[in-house]
Amino acid sequence: KKVVLAYSGGLDTSIILKWLEIEYGCEVVTFTADLGQGEELEPARKKAELLGVKPENIFIEDLREEFVRDFVFPMFRANAQYEGLYLLGTSIARPLISKRLVEIAKQTGADAVSHGATGKGNDQVRFELAAYALNPEIVVIAPWREWDLQSRTKLIEFAEAHQIPIAKDKRGEAPFSVDANLLHTSSEGKVLEDPAIDAPDYVYQRTVHPEDAPNTPEFVEITFEKGDAVAINGEAMSPATILTKLNELGGKHGCGRLDLVEGRFVGMKSRGIYETPGGTLLLEAHRGIESITMDRGAMHLKDELMPKYAELIYNGFWYSPEREMLQAAIDQSQEHVSGTVRLKLYKGLARCVGRWSDHSLYSESHVTFEEDAGAYDQTDAAGFIQLQALRLKLIAMRNKRLGK
Ligand code: ARG
Ligand code: SIN
Repeated sequence: KKVVLAYSGGLDTSIILKWLEIEYGCEVVTFTADLGQGEELEPARKKAELLGVKPENIFIEDLREEFVRDFVFPMFRANAQYEGLYLLGTSIARPLISKRLVEIAKQTGADAVSHGATGKGNDQVRFELAAYALNPEIVVIAPWREWDLQSRTKLIEFAEAHQIPIAKDKRGEAPFSVDANLLHTSSEGKVLEDPAIDAPDYVYQRTVHPEDAPNTPEFVEITFEKGDAVAINGEAMSPATILTKLNELGGKHGCGRLDLVEGRFVGMKSRGIYETPGGTLLLEAHRGIESITMDRGAMHLKDELMPKYAELIYNGFWYSPEREMLQAAIDQSQEHVSGTVRLKLYKGLARCVGRWSDHSLYSESHVTFEEDAGAYDQTDAAGFIQLQALRLKLIAMRNKRLGK
């Protein structure tokens, strides 16, 4: 028996590693991915080796480009926001991790995969729905739902009993739980659990406080091709490089901080602090380029589909026929979404202040308040309004007749 574990190198997943060996008597393969969380990966290799994992069973991969190109960018084509606010930074990373877990299981002849998400959250659902969608035979082991190590004290005892090194700062209770990748940092739990109370400043990790941001605004130009960002200030860059660069810019100006309460798929509400600096710039810029290149009918339909699409990603249905159907429609809508947007960054805000494109539908000769040289006949509007008003007039006439 063999299991592939999503392994961060941290204390919790190290404990899971040992627990799997003991409880299931199985060989453990570790998988550690660089998704842009900003941590070195080599310490995770060292730690796995130290815990006795065979070198050929240690998988370490840089997935940043694949993450942004095949997951983040397709999602941003939809302007996806869950419950109107959340840019889905954690939600969108899970299907990729599961995809690699399942692929590595196949490659190493493992029959099971395992993750460190708790039994209370969304992440367990996302990991597992993706794994089953990609391999219906796969066995998933979720230690947090099975073991009795529910307290910090018990975890530490287990670690000590099995020679798992514990970093000094990990002995005590962590002040809150963090998940990070190139798109965002999310913090939940502990000091953040009372939604009535403002988050302490030390929670924020990749953005400066807007009040401490530079006093002079900064401008940045983002170029899009078919809905995806391809260049910053005229310089072509890979997807992950673009997001990294936008994170730096947004972080410096305090953009993309969010304090919210969201409805988890399992039913409870949870309070989170999110920092999505680059993603916030990208959303504003993408909406800016769509505003001149996309037809109103297509855009409004897409905006109606968006909450459904966002909910599918949030609930873990990335690999589902309905998400793929919506994606096909969304991708099709981006055919002409090419051009450049100029953003102004200042004290926590990223605002679109200019947009231009060869694919523009914006016609100054039609919209102008000045003489339009015959582009538009204002008398056409009279009949247009009369017919639009017809049913409203009939209702008003009936109401009058009934004395209402
Ligand atoms: N609530 C967010 C989501 O469901 C983030 C979950 C993981 N974050 C964490 N700090 N453990 O997508
Ligand atoms: C967890 O429970 O592992 C994190 C929070 C979540 O998945 O929603």
